[in-house]
Amino acid sequence: MQTDVWSDVHEVPHVRLGQSADLVVVAPATADLLARAAIGRSDDLLTATLLTARCPVLYAPAMHTEMWEHPATQANIETLRGRGAVVLDPAVGRLTGADSGPGRLPEPAEIFAVARTLLDRGALPLDLAGRHVLVTAGGTREPLDPVRFLGNRSSGRQGYALARAAIARGAEVTVVAANVALPDPAGAKVIRVGTAGEMRDAVRAAAISADAVIMVAAVADFRPATASQTKIKKTGADPEPIALVRNPDILAELAHDRPRPGQVVVGFAAETDDVLANGRAKLAAKGADLLVVNEVGDGRGFGTTDNAATLLGADGSVVDVPMGSKDRLADAIWDAVVARLPR
Ligand code: C5P
Repeated sequence: MQTDVWSDVHEVPHVRLGQSADLVVVAPATADLLARAAIGRSDDLLTATLLTARCPVLYAPAMHTEMWEHPATQANIETLRGRGAVVLDPAVGRLTGADSGPGRLPEPAEIFAVARTLLDRGALPLDLAGRHVLVTAGGTREPLDPVRFLGNRSSGRQGYALARAAIARGAEVTVVAANVALPDPAGAKVIRVGTAGEMRDAVRAAAISADAVIMVAAVADFRPATASQTKIKKTGADPEPIALVRNPDILAELAHDRPRPGQVVVGFAAETDDVLANGRAKLAAKGADLLVVNEVGDGRGFGTTDNAATLLGADGSVVDVPMGSKDRLADAIWDAVVARLPR
């Protein structure tokens, strides 16, 4: 461990650390540190290391909301991002003292996940820098009564893997999360929703500024026609059948409306049979640019850590992504999205 420039001077630590690093992580990064890094100060071991590092640099800012939102801090962050650093947006929550708001350090395990992705990728270009991407994750729940719902088995893992991968590629990331019980991906803005209707409102609002939208969430196609205000009681009589009504197809609506010119719209399709034929038909029906088709059932897909998929393009392209981690599939999907983004 090194803490200052005056120990082991013969080893020249103030340049050696940066020169030999594969990744530099600054967590927490204070407003002051970000300012000093942005103007290239080098009057202590950390700033000297930042100035000599040629590897990826990851900052996880943490500070009070006012400091985070100050134009000076935001300008410094723009400068650092413009030079290729990955600067995470802080989480929203309890800060030091009684305050709460944007400025909280993301969960360390999530910062670690971004760091690992950066290490795996090496010093590749941040090909989503300056882009805003929107990812939906999880599964909607459509209430039957105050305690029961129609839902599905989606865990949110693939959506969160996509969010993490986009952050590591430099994007500003919004996640619309339906019933996900996972820690927030570090650096992403997470909007929580419950039902398909809530997801639609959140997606439509965030999509206006999104360069790419990936709809990973499993959205209920139908919802109960009425939700009881009180818990449905067990009576002696046979239960009433549940009447269902159709939910809006958020993906098809978005692909049709394209709220931002050049926006790339991606859907997911979990299929249990005739995977490719069903996928092609679904891609056409939805009007998306890309459909990620994967076979589910028998322990595949939902809730697992690995996934395999075929990426079908509206241009007729077919890319097979073999079984591997959801992180690897996420990167393959972003590769396909980046190739379709307007320059
Ligand atoms: O039609 P299906 O549900 O199989 O399509 C899956 C894709 O469509 C996913 O990308 C999902 O997020 C999206 N979807 C949607 N709105 C719905 C149903 C599905 O956006 N009501």
